[in-house]
Amino acid sequence: MTLSELTALLDAELARARDQIAKVETVADLDEAERAFLGKRSAVATVNQTIKELAPEERPMVGQAVSSYKAAVTELIEARRAVLGDGAAEAVDRLDLTLPGRGLGRGHLHLITQVQQELEEVFLGLGYKVAEGPEVETDFYNFEALNMPQAHPARSMWDTLYVKLGRPEEVVLRTHTSPVQIRVMESRQPPVYTVMPGRCYRRDTLDARHSPVFHQIEGLVVDEGITFGDLAGTIDAFTRAYFGPGHTSRLRPSYFPFTEPSAEFEVTCFVCDGAGCSVCSKTGWLELGGCGMVDPNVFRAVGYDSETYTGFAFGFGLERMAMVRYGVEHIKSFFENDIRFLKQF
Ligand code: FA5
Repeated sequence: MTLSELTALLDAELARARDQIAKVETVADLDEAERAFLGKRSAVATVNQTIKELAPEERPMVGQAVSSYKAAVTELIEARRAVLGDGAAEAVDRLDLTLPGRGLGRGHLHLITQVQQELEEVFLGLGYKVAEGPEVETDFYNFEALNMPQAHPARSMWDTLYVKLGRPEEVVLRTHTSPVQIRVMESRQPPVYTVMPGRCYRRDTLDARHSPVFHQIEGLVVDEGITFGDLAGTIDAFTRAYFGPGHTSRLRPSYFPFTEPSAEFEVTCFVCDGAGCSVCSKTGWLELGGCGMVDPNVFRAVGYDSETYTGFAFGFGLERMAMVRYGVEHIKSFFENDIRFLKQF
């Protein structure tokens, strides 16, 4: 082939490439076109092989024509590839391949923790401090300092779980939060205005209102001139703040070795509205907690002067408070971990 035939062939081939590459719709077809216009069997490859047959002075011109052909075709292919590439990305965008996935969801505090924190807030608002004590206690704090010496019959009011530590029956899982009263009084002098929330353990059989593990909030006030009226007023204030108005309640005479006089605080059963049902053991009332004026023997045990100071204490069940406020008919709902129950609060 002559020089002019070769350059004419490359011009024609470039025109064909321009036309065909513009029509290509897929990346695979573009690869095919690249092979056809630049590959081993392409026209330009043939032209390349023919160069050596040309006169030496003609070779550079054909070489230049081959280079510009290759550059032009490569540019066409890359431009088309960019268009097809973007289009493919767009197509993927339009085709939403994402699956909803398994969301982890956001958790929240357990209802009993919420109740505890809400009550703490009520008492902080009344000027109280918050204190905590150990769940594994010694006999001294759980019983003895609370005016229940060894073998005192009142100890049987609490079905106690003992821990195999120290002397027999020396270490217990605390049966109430009252031992924290002793720890608080040991650590400071009056005046004391403190609440003490926490977990308690008893060998109680599970029923609608009882669980072997439950929570209480203890309250302790020690100051000069504290009366039973202050106790009744405080309980009225915090139960009203927690339940809102409209709950009928009563203080019923009772007995605790560490308070004198003692009382139990009860509200009308939320299930039967006082008529009597299985939740309230047919009494029409639900006991929320015990309370009373601190016995002078307790003050003596911690070294407080019972001639100068008087005080009151109370211990309320958090599960019971939550049951009444939210209409929960069985205490086991708090421990079953049924997400359908927990999600409601
Ligand atoms: C006491 O535990 C006393 N320490 C309360 C007290 C404190 C009296 C300070 C005077 C001064 P009692 O055993 O009645 O008392 O329990 C108090 C409350 O804890 C009960 O009214 C109830 O609301 C809750 N409670 C007791 N046992 C259980 C249980 N097994 N499951 C759930 N709640 C319980």
